[in-house]
Amino acid sequence: MLSLDNAFADDEITAFDRRVRERLKRSDAADSIDYAAEPKLDGLAVSVLYVDGVYRRAATRGDGVTGEDVTANVLTIRTVPQRLRGRVPAVLEVRGEVFLPYAGFAQVNREALERGEKTYVNPRNLAAGSLRQLDASITATRPLEVFFYSVGQFEGGSLPPMQSQLLLQLRDWGLRTCPLNARVRGADGCLTYYRDVGAQRPQLPYQIDGVVYKVDSRDDQQALGFVARAPRWAVAHKFPADEELTTVTGVDFQVGRTGALTPVARLAPVFVGGVTVSNATLHNMDEVARKDVRIGDTVVVRRAGDVIPEVARVLLERRPSQTEAIRLPSQCPVCNSTVERAPGEAVARCTGGPAVCSAQCKEWLKHFASRRAMDIEGLGDKLIEQLVDADLVRTPADLYRLTAAQLAGLERMGERSAANVLAALEHSKATSLPRLLFALGIPDVGETTARALAQQFGTLDALAAARVEAIMQTPDVGPVSAGALVEFFAATGNRKLIAALRDQGVHWPDIETLGTNLPLAGLTFVLTGALAQFKREQAEEALRELGAKTTGSVSKRTSYVVAGADAGTKLTKAESLGVRILDEAALATILSTKKPPAT
Ligand code: IVH
Repeated sequence: MLSLDNAFADDEITAFDRRVRERLKRSDAADSIDYAAEPKLDGLAVSVLYVDGVYRRAATRGDGVTGEDVTANVLTIRTVPQRLRGRVPAVLEVRGEVFLPYAGFAQVNREALERGEKTYVNPRNLAAGSLRQLDASITATRPLEVFFYSVGQFEGGSLPPMQSQLLLQLRDWGLRTCPLNARVRGADGCLTYYRDVGAQRPQLPYQIDGVVYKVDSRDDQQALGFVARAPRWAVAHKFPADEELTTVTGVDFQVGRTGALTPVARLAPVFVGGVTVSNATLHNMDEVARKDVRIGDTVVVRRAGDVIPEVARVLLERRPSQTEAIRLPSQCPVCNSTVERAPGEAVARCTGGPAVCSAQCKEWLKHFASRRAMDIEGLGDKLIEQLVDADLVRTPADLYRLTAAQLAGLERMGERSAANVLAALEHSKATSLPRLLFALGIPDVGETTARALAQQFGTLDALAAARVEAIMQTPDVGPVSAGALVEFFAATGNRKLIAALRDQGVHWPDIETLGTNLPLAGLTFVLTGALAQFKREQAEEALRELGAKTTGSVSKRTSYVVAGADAGTKLTKAESLGVRILDEAALATILSTKKPPAT
């Protein structure tokens, strides 16, 4: 499932319309584009599959590629039909938004309050919570509704050529669509629609956070294609961010993985943008100084859609007398170590390090266990905090020494969950060098750098023994990261940690030996343009698993450029350098046959 670009101002919409017309070569003032205009519902995206007109499966958006299975839950929504009406395609995947109307939200919260249970902050959270219930009979008690707005997979039959007609077709099949959908002409039509719907918004029985304009013609949509994961043929026009006044009751400093201190404003709770906000990040001390936020100040808090709330500005005219500017603490609020701020840097850091500072330790372990690092399923933030607070774990290696009894003794953990965590830990021991390097949390070593280092050095020992100059030979690694790496591997604590991880059975194959045996070893690929059947990152990962290198820029050394739809300058460069160009079908063949392209 895809996402949408957001716009707030009218001129962003005129610019969107202009780009659409330019790309479609209809730049004449007389050539206006028709748009399907729809409310942007503030709920949860779902995808529902019908086979031969019969309800088969439903999934949430998840991470956009893999969703959660909510088949039983969606079926409890009264307006979702088990069987479609009329002539239906053999396979039909419809997408839409599940939401809870305000009345249902109030009812569920009233009932929760009567039972002395916690209430939900907004309809969207409640809709999401309801849909993800493990027990669908609970979902059934929540008055959820759905509006469908598009079609995904489709086989057997044909679809109408316009989005606006498609919406009518969905309705004829018995699928609910939003009654406020309309067809409008040109940017002017869009803006009129925006104001109309905006004016009706206070009376609507459900929450919307803007409107969406989609180029009506599906042929034109196809011609326009996608950039990253958002279509060029659609845009979300958001309603202005909600703003409310509240007061700052305090400013605390949170300590991150690298010791960075982030000032956070504690606020008198205020309902803004659909949630109650009681904290807002102030980012860093420069930001605090720029906004001149002080304790006791009345501030404007702003929240747009699902964006994190922020302090927009201070009302100086309401400042009480005798306030003091916020000062950076000289000692870490968690471990009391000295706080340092390097000259010219915005960020101040606790110098304690993870061995001393439990806040840094917790963040380090959370990073180590995270999905893109060691991927230890079930070892969530709350559990890690408990483990550190109970002094059961101080370093990543300690995680692998945990026992079932220790885990089962913790809050909200039983024997079953303890066994699951241990199994996940065991499973994570078989890892890869790039993952391990990323997981170690070396300053400046993100996923891409970790991969590049692994490819450059092949083994951890080679990297650990390397000098700054050698490390700088790695693509995109500069003197600062190289220096940080040398320092990291020089520290006794880190050497001990790596030895301890190995002792606990954490292992990874060396890249050298692995690389040269693989079918695509020695080949470098650049992927550009939009691919229809792959997400680019996934295709790149699959190529790398077959031994290829993937990079972002085309050079003489590039073996192949895979060009998707609307490939731009990289394709032109490949052509001019004489680099071989493959299309998506050729890529699919490489991945399925696990063989390099025939020459
Ligand atoms: S179209 C490629 N239409 O907004 C087009 N999305 O910001 C993708 N949404 O994930 C979506 N109302 O959850 C579309 N009328 C509407 C929508 C809508 C709400 C949500 C949907 C999507 C998100 C993208």
